[in-house]
Order: sequence, then C-alpha cells, then structure tokens
Amino acid sequence: MRSVETPTQLSIDSEVLRGLLRRARSASQFAYAPYSGFSVGAAVLAADGSIYSGCNVENASIGLTICAEQSAMSAAVSGGQHEILAVAVSAPKSPGTTPCGACRQFLNEFRPQSSDMAVVLDDGSSGNVVWLANLLPLAFGPRNFDSAMEEAIQATETRRDDGR
Ligand code: THU
Repeated sequence: MRSVETPTQLSIDSEVLRGLLRRARSASQFAYAPYSGFSVGAAVLAADGSIYSGCNVENASIGLTICAEQSAMSAAVSGGQHEILAVAVSAPKSPGTTPCGACRQFLNEFRPQSSDMAVVLDDGSSGNVVWLANLLPLAFGPRNFDSAMEEAIQATETRRDDGR
C-alpha cells in the first residue's frame, strides 16, 4: 500500500511573509463588494520574488463574482508566473478568514512542483501561516495529468512496438 506524500514546507523569510500580508491588506481597500459588503484582499509571492495582489470583484449577477485570491493569482499568471510560493489573504471584517473551497483549488494549480504553498491568514496581528496541503488534502491538480499523460505515451509506444 502506498502512503500519501506530504509536500515539503519551504521556509520563507518571516519578514517577506509579513510584507505579503501588508500587500493583501492594502489590496482589500480596492475590493468591489457592494452586495456582500465583505472586502477581501490577497497577495501572492512568485518564485522569482515578485508580488502580485488582487481584491474580490462582485457582480450584479452574483454568480460571476471573482474572489481576491483568484484576482491575485490571475494577475501573477498574466505577469508570466506559474509557480507561487505563498499567498496572503486579508478580510478586515473577519480576522482569520481562510480561502474558500474554489480558491483552494485555484491556488493549487500553481503550487510549486516539489513543495507546498504557504497561506498567510490575517489574524489582525503579524499573520498566521498555514499550508495549502492542509487546507486541500489529497488535491486534484496538474500532476494528475502528468501520470495520465505518461500512461497515454506508454500506450502509444506499446502500440508502436506491436506494429499496431
Ligand atoms: N471572498 C473572497 O474574495 N475570497 C474568499 O476566499 C472568500 C470569499 C469574497 C467573495 C465575495 O465577494 C465575498 O467575499 C463574500 O463571499
């Protein structure tokens, strides 16, 4: 029986994480949340050290609302980043707010290949670090396609060897 592997938790400088939290707090000021009145800001730390931030953007249709984490991640990807080491989330009305389920999945897409993503929660103080693997255990993600792809390649090679 195979056991579940837990991704490595990279140690990230605590001053860098505090700076990330400051960026998330400041992004929450731009939240467009006329329907819920619940402002959220997020900031992500890319592998090259750059930081991108975003806020929630609500919509009159309600269902089209975009969460702060998704805004920040989309900004990072639009800046050419595909590897996110850490994310900070700040909802001033609700200290300790964690990313919603959909955001956990969105974040997981850009988790580093061989390590976990740090999630800094705004506890109203210097931040509380948790890990994405704990928020989204046994996640489905890009690596699932790696093995599916390998199997497809192997099947193609087997067919070729068989002259099929
Ligand atoms: N929201 C976020 O931006 N991120 C989360 O992880 C939780 C929820 C936003 C969406 C909506 O605009 C408001 O908070 C209330 O749900």
